[in-house]
Amino acid sequence: MSGKVRIGIIGCGTIGSVHANAYAKVEEAEVVALCDLLPDRLKEKAELHKVARTYVDYKELLADPEIDAVSICVPNDMHAPIAIDAFAAGKHVLLEKPMTLSAELGQKILDARDQSGKLLQMGMVWRQRDEAQLVKKEIEAGRLGEIYQIRVKLIRRRGIPGLGGWFTTKAKSGGGGLIDIAVHFFDLVMWETGYWNPTRVSAKCYSKFGSPIADYHYISMWAGPPKMDGVFDVDDYATGFVRFGDKATMVFEVAWACNAEDESYVELIGDKGGMKVGLGDSVIHTEVDNCIADVKLHYKNDSDPFVNEVRKFALAVQGKGEIPATGEQGLVAMKLLDAIYKSSAINQEVEI
Ligand SMILES: NC(=O)c1ccc[n+]([C@@H]2O[C@H](COP(=O)([O-])OP(=O)(O)OC[C@H]3O[C@@H](n4cnc5c(N)ncnc54)[C@H](O)[C@@H]3O)[C@@H](O)[C@H]2O)c1
Repeated sequence: MSGKVRIGIIGCGTIGSVHANAYAKVEEAEVVALCDLLPDRLKEKAELHKVARTYVDYKELLADPEIDAVSICVPNDMHAPIAIDAFAAGKHVLLEKPMTLSAELGQKILDARDQSGKLLQMGMVWRQRDEAQLVKKEIEAGRLGEIYQIRVKLIRRRGIPGLGGWFTTKAKSGGGGLIDIAVHFFDLVMWETGYWNPTRVSAKCYSKFGSPIADYHYISMWAGPPKMDGVFDVDDYATGFVRFGDKATMVFEVAWACNAEDESYVELIGDKGGMKVGLGDSVIHTEVDNCIADVKLHYKNDSDPFVNEVRKFALAVQGKGEIPATGEQGLVAMKLLDAIYKSSAINQEVEI
């Protein structure tokens, strides 16, 4: 298609606004409509982002023939129904993470996409960071050699978001910190390494801090304040061991809340080099001329990952680029998450 891609944003909460701001910086796209269940929020966001058309019912937005594509920015339980309806209405879809609540539902999204012939991009924004892109190039240049071990560490000392609301209600979120934040890093490491074949998992999830809600002590809360009469029935800590065939392994530790220091990085260890990603300080631990050496990579770190994400989406819709994070990859991440929750529930290693 020629001309700007006409975008509708469904869900005008925190991340819906982030998408609107990102599209505003991209010449290939224009946000022409917004949708939110909450009329007051919709009005406020329409004024803020200067968008004329608004819908409370997402099905009405999808029926608008002057919309080419949608960003789906609603709670996780609505990802699958809205994405499936969007494809049936002939729209391209940029779908926020996690893909949905389960791999079974993820497959239904892929089936709907295939029937429509439209594009699906996953909102895996960590890949779009300058550092992540640089590390990918280093890996492709063979700088780490064969990567055989991955460490994922994502610890928030007190970081449960929206306690009592949809984030902490399993029926709406599909789970806690694991599905909410670990999904970013699982996607990142599988993309960096190209290991889209997690095969076996042994894991354990815990729920220690969110309940009773009144007993949770914190300094700040994303999507807060807590809803004191709300629900907390999800994980706030998870750890596990994942095999990628017989070639590589991953250990992970992820917490929305935990009595430990805040830490957030992934570490990729290869037979030629190893490095941490996520600290903004890219150092390859390696050897140079038979000496143990640390190679520091200096790079520009000035692009906005959300702008990179939506620009690539618009370019793909225009037929000028590839989707940077595919639905198939989203489905692999969902299968891994399903297996982690299953392994924890049955206290055994499970096959994916
Ligand atoms: N990529 C990232 O870094 C990132 C960060 C935060 C959240 N997210 C994801 O984005 C999604 C939204 O998260 P959030 O933090 O913006 O949540 P939020 O609660 O701030 O916003 C969700 C909005 O969706 C609206 N909504 C709910 N059901 C709807 C429906 N049926 N039709 C229309 N609007 C509806 C709500 O009224 C609300 O305004 C989640 O899937 C979350 O995992 C991604």
